[in-house]
Amino acid sequence: MRMVDIIEKKRDGIQLSSDEIKWFVSEYTHENIPDYQISALMMAIFLKGMSQKETVDLTLAMAASGDQLDLHDVAPFVIDKHSSGGVGDKTTLVVTPLVAACGVPVGKMSGRGLGSSGGTLDKMESIAGWSSNITLPKFKKQLRDIGIVLAGQTAVLAPADGKMYALRDVTGTVGSMPLIAGSIMSKKLAAGADGIVLDVKVGNGAFMTELEDARALAELMVGIGKDAGRKMVALLSDMNQPLGQAIGNALEVNEAIETLKGDGPTDFWAHCLETAAHMLVVAGKGSSLDGAKSILNAVHQSGVAFEKFKAMVVAQGGNGRMVDNPALLPKATFISDIKAPQSGTIQAIDTGEVGWAGVNLGGGRLVKTDQIDHAVGIILHAKVGDIVEAGDVIGEIHANDSMKQSLALAQILSAITIGDEPVEPLPLFYGTII
Ligand code: URA
Repeated sequence: MRMVDIIEKKRDGIQLSSDEIKWFVSEYTHENIPDYQISALMMAIFLKGMSQKETVDLTLAMAASGDQLDLHDVAPFVIDKHSSGGVGDKTTLVVTPLVAACGVPVGKMSGRGLGSSGGTLDKMESIAGWSSNITLPKFKKQLRDIGIVLAGQTAVLAPADGKMYALRDVTGTVGSMPLIAGSIMSKKLAAGADGIVLDVKVGNGAFMTELEDARALAELMVGIGKDAGRKMVALLSDMNQPLGQAIGNALEVNEAIETLKGDGPTDFWAHCLETAAHMLVVAGKGSSLDGAKSILNAVHQSGVAFEKFKAMVVAQGGNGRMVDNPALLPKATFISDIKAPQSGTIQAIDTGEVGWAGVNLGGGRLVKTDQIDHAVGIILHAKVGDIVEAGDVIGEIHANDSMKQSLALAQILSAITIGDEPVEPLPLFYGTII
């Protein structure tokens, strides 16, 4: 087969065969196809889409690009969760230790930042020494010993996704339903979890801006998971404003630690509690969401979830002192206030723009080889529906470059619409797909 023929076929809107999909995924994984040809193909997929059959073929080929874990020698039921990507979404850092602290093993394969959305691995690497590069024996041992692992794609687990994900981040090909479904579900299938809770974001800071598209993506992924014999739930959650207040790697780790200690923003904690409750119910612990929430609240208040997070950090080489004392996390040189430019009610927040402001500060990548600045980011206290007075401090910018700081301020202020109309607060969730 020739890659150029496959690119042209997709460019012309013709369905790819299973063999063609298996071939290009395998050849790319083995470095026999250059990045520029895969980039061209992904742009063609972005523009022309894929049928359900092509998407399933892509997902299975990506999952099979490395080893596929069977974790049943370690635990009878392993749970996993995944978000489709959002701004300020540090949910994994809170829900995985919470659920593990309830005695349900969590084995998770996470990703890096993608477009305007942050990634768990970049956030966790704010903690000195922490590594997601885990061998299979270590994955299993850590799951057995402490019940929680946060791994990244390696040469052995869904390597095709690792490579394609890094290209999508910088080629404008993130917001494609088949590419998102393939990326998320290949990681989930390869990591061997028995139950999977998907958090599919919808709104102006998500890759799916319309509820019908988010629902279709959720249904597609739930179907792929069920066909592979996994227990599946997808939540449709709001991304028309950042989740919590912190946007940026170390700032988000700090907020997650505060939340684990009981001091986090209320919207973020409510989101985490709901997601974790679904994970417990899928795992058969807690017969109802309310019952699961009672278990989770008890574990949260006892401090066991915080200790579980610290145990995971230390097991993966991270500096546990940074968890005990987040003041030791990387810090930016310039911290300045964001002030409301006028009085009124916050009508809307262009969340994607706020995410891009964080990327432009250095918190994400504009090209594949960019180094992340873990210290920089944004704190945004303001939420849609809040009433503000001109000059009120509604957030902070954390920068390591004064020029970038001024640009970020302008970008964030232009992303926030203040007006006279009263506005209802936004919901956290729009529905559940089982
Ligand atoms: N998360 C992923 O792992 N992949 C995507 O494509 C989007 C979110």
